[in-house]
Amino acid sequence: MNVKDKVVMITGAARGIGRTAVQLFLAAGAKVAMCDINEEQLQATRGDLDPEGARPLLAVPLNVADRASVDAAVKTVTAAWGRIDVLVNNAGITRDAMLHKLAEEDFDRVISVNLKGVFNCTQAVVPVMSAQKSGAIINTSSIVGVYGNVGQTNYAAAKAGLIGMTKTWAKELGRHGITVNAVAPGFTMTEMLATVPEKVLDGVRNNTPLKRLGAPEDIGNAYLFLGSKEASFITGQVLGVDGGLVL
Ligand code: CAA
Ligand code: NAI
Repeated sequence: MNVKDKVVMITGAARGIGRTAVQLFLAAGAKVAMCDINEEQLQATRGDLDPEGARPLLAVPLNVADRASVDAAVKTVTAAWGRIDVLVNNAGITRDAMLHKLAEEDFDRVISVNLKGVFNCTQAVVPVMSAQKSGAIINTSSIVGVYGNVGQTNYAAAKAGLIGMTKTWAKELGRHGITVNAVAPGFTMTEMLATVPEKVLDGVRNNTPLKRLGAPEDIGNAYLFLGSKEASFITGQVLGVDGGLVL
C-alpha cells in the first residue's frame, strides 16, 4: 500500500490502536504526526518508537475537544511538513453506564470528544487538503455505532453520528479530491477494554465468526489501506473490521 512520503496526522496516537497505526504508517514510508491529550504517554511512545529522534515522527499535544488546541496542532504539522495528506480521527473515550445511571456530564464528555472532536479536527484540516486538491480522512467509528451496545448510550450516539458525518463529508469534499471513510472496529485488545467485564468479552468472542477479538494491527492496517493511493476511488464507506460480528 503506497503511503510513501505522505504526511499523516493521527489523533489518540499515544497508545492502543493509534500507536500501532503510527508504527504501520512509519514502516510504509509516511511522515507521521502523532497527536494525543496525554502528553506524558505521548512523549514515552515517541521515545519508544524513535529513540534516536531520526525518523519522520512528530509528537504533538492535542485535545480534540478544544478547537484552539486543534488549530495549534494543525499549524504545527503544516509548519513542519507543509501539507497534510491523511487525517486519522482515532481519538476516543468511553464512559459506560446503563441509561438510568448515565450522568449528563458523561453523556456530554463522550459526545464532545468522540463526535465534536472529529468535527473539530476535520474542519481544521480540510482547508489544507482542499488547497492541495487531495487528502484522505478516516474516522474511527465502532460496531457499537452500527448495532448499539448495552451500557453505551453516549458512545453509540457518537459513533453512529460519525457515520452520518462521514457520508456527508464524502459528498461535500469529493470535488476537492478528498476521500472520507469510516472504520468500524469490533472489540479490539487495547486498554479501552479494561472496564469491560470478562463475561461480556466471552460473549463477544463466541458470537464472532472468526472466534477472537481484534488486534490493534487489524484496525491499523485498515487505516493504512484507506489512507493509501490504492484506496483513492473509495469514499463514503464504513469498513467493518470485526471478525464478522455484525453479520
Ligand atoms: N452486552 C450484553 N449484556 C451486557 C453488556 C453487554 N455489552 N454489558 C452489561 N451487560 C449485562 C450484564 O451482564 C448484566 O446482566 P445480568 O443482570 O443478567 O447479570 C446487566 O447487563 C447489567 O450489567 P451490570 O450488572 O454490570 O450493571 P452495572 O450498572 O453495574 O454496569 C456497565 C453497567 C457499566 C454498562 C457494565 O455492565 C459494563 O461495563 N458493561 C460493558 C459495556 C461495554 O461493552 N463497553 C464496551 C467498552 S469498549 C468499547 O467501547 C470499544 C468498542 O467500540 C467496542
Ligand atoms: P485507547 O483508550 O487505548 O486510546 C485512546 C487514545 O486517545 C489515548 O491515548 C487517549 O489519551 C487519547 N485521547 C483521549 N481523549 C483525547 C482527546 N480529547 N484528545 C486527544 N486524544 C485523546 O483506545 P483504543 O482502543 O486505541 O481506541 C482507539 C479508537 O478506536 C477510539 O476512537 C475507540 O473508540 C475506537 N474503537 C476501539 C475499540 C476497542 O475495542 N478497543 C472498538 C471500536 C472502536
